[in-house]
Amino acid sequence: MPTPPSIALKITDQQHELIIKSTQQALHGRIRVPGDKSISHRSLMLGALAEGETVIHGLLLGEDPRSTAACFRAMGATISELNAEEVRVQGIGLGNLQEPEDVLNTGNSGTTTRLMLGILASHPGKFFTVTGDRSIRSRPMSRVVKPLQQMGAQIWGRNNNSLAPLAIQGQNLKPIHYQSPIASAQVKSCILLAGLMIEGQTIVTEPALSRDHSERMLKAFGAELSVDPETNSVTITGQSRLKGQTVIVPGDISSAAFWLVAGAIVPGSDLTIENVGVNPTRTGVLEALEQMGADITLENQRHVAGEPVADLRVRHSKLKACTIAGDLIPRLIDEIPILAVAATFAEGTTVIRDAEELRVKESDRITITATQLNLMGASITELPDGMEIVGGKVLKGAEVDSHTDHRIAMSLAIAALNATGTTTIHRAEAAAISYPDFTATLQQVTH
Ligand code: S3P
Repeated sequence: MPTPPSIALKITDQQHELIIKSTQQALHGRIRVPGDKSISHRSLMLGALAEGETVIHGLLLGEDPRSTAACFRAMGATISELNAEEVRVQGIGLGNLQEPEDVLNTGNSGTTTRLMLGILASHPGKFFTVTGDRSIRSRPMSRVVKPLQQMGAQIWGRNNNSLAPLAIQGQNLKPIHYQSPIASAQVKSCILLAGLMIEGQTIVTEPALSRDHSERMLKAFGAELSVDPETNSVTITGQSRLKGQTVIVPGDISSAAFWLVAGAIVPGSDLTIENVGVNPTRTGVLEALEQMGADITLENQRHVAGEPVADLRVRHSKLKACTIAGDLIPRLIDEIPILAVAATFAEGTTVIRDAEELRVKESDRITITATQLNLMGASITELPDGMEIVGGKVLKGAEVDSHTDHRIAMSLAIAALNATGTTTIHRAEAAAISYPDFTATLQQVTH
């Protein structure tokens, strides 16, 4: 019986150090990952805006959806205690959000902040202030503020109205056709949600297709919406009434990605991740890993509440380098830190380009991924819009830091599993933003 790695959590002053002493032991078993973060946010928001009750099964209990729930409770929606089995939202109907007494705090969540801005800006006569943690207060909001201003929104903030805290005076907006310069589901969804509230047709065109959970869920709740896949355009006709629905949230492929890479790089592994959402706008990570020669099979494929779902089985295999760029980027944007870990163990040089968006995520994910993995012996060179990763490296344990970015914390933990010696990950508590049980599952698959 091989010895499992030793995994320990040291908690000081609310900061967690995750200490992993690896034995490079194979990963086995069948696991589940928490609910999809994007779908969780949207189910709470649309549930709050709909008439009647929305029942959500499988909601992600991470800190980000908790921020969304707290904001919408503060504006009058009744949302039951959050648990993964069942959450009940009593909607208050389109346009009926109440002016909150206090600042709306979106924590670390870019999705909450940007989607909610579209909803708030289109509530005439009501005043809102929005802020979040240090990361949120440094992330660009002009990408949503500018199109909302074109619709007639009144929004104020630092740095020419582009940084939170933001103050919003709701207005009667007018519909626009917005040609977005970036493929961003947050931008697209913000404008669609503003368009939901107003008379006429609001159209968003994006340069490449980003995740389409808003479109799917808006339709399911009864909004009048059409998609033109030729031009990557979505048209919403405003003021249709939303009706509360039952939402079944699939497992988050962005969380499954950590185990897919762990199973692919640690010799002898054979791991199945059940019930993962495989919406085609999110499966870029499967295509990239396939290009790298990973052995991943989709089993038990089915549709659950309007989203495709499958069990993903991964077995260890020898990986080779690949190029990740172009339209693939928006379909795997959140998985690039963990793909960089895979590339470190692959034969050859992997090039990631067209991913400048990574610089404005929860952290600058190009710089932080490169510097932290390099501390473990990786060979990653930063590019303005990506990374060049020379693979075939033997990583060694080191002291590294998540920089409070959840996906960096978990990527470093997976790298540590296949490194020699002991790795200490500082500020590993960040994982709870999207994956509160990450350490428990890490213990489970390595024992
Ligand atoms: C998200 C969209 C993506 C992604 C984020 C969640 C969403 O951001 O990175 O984690 O739920 O709409 P962008 O739209 O900024 O690319």
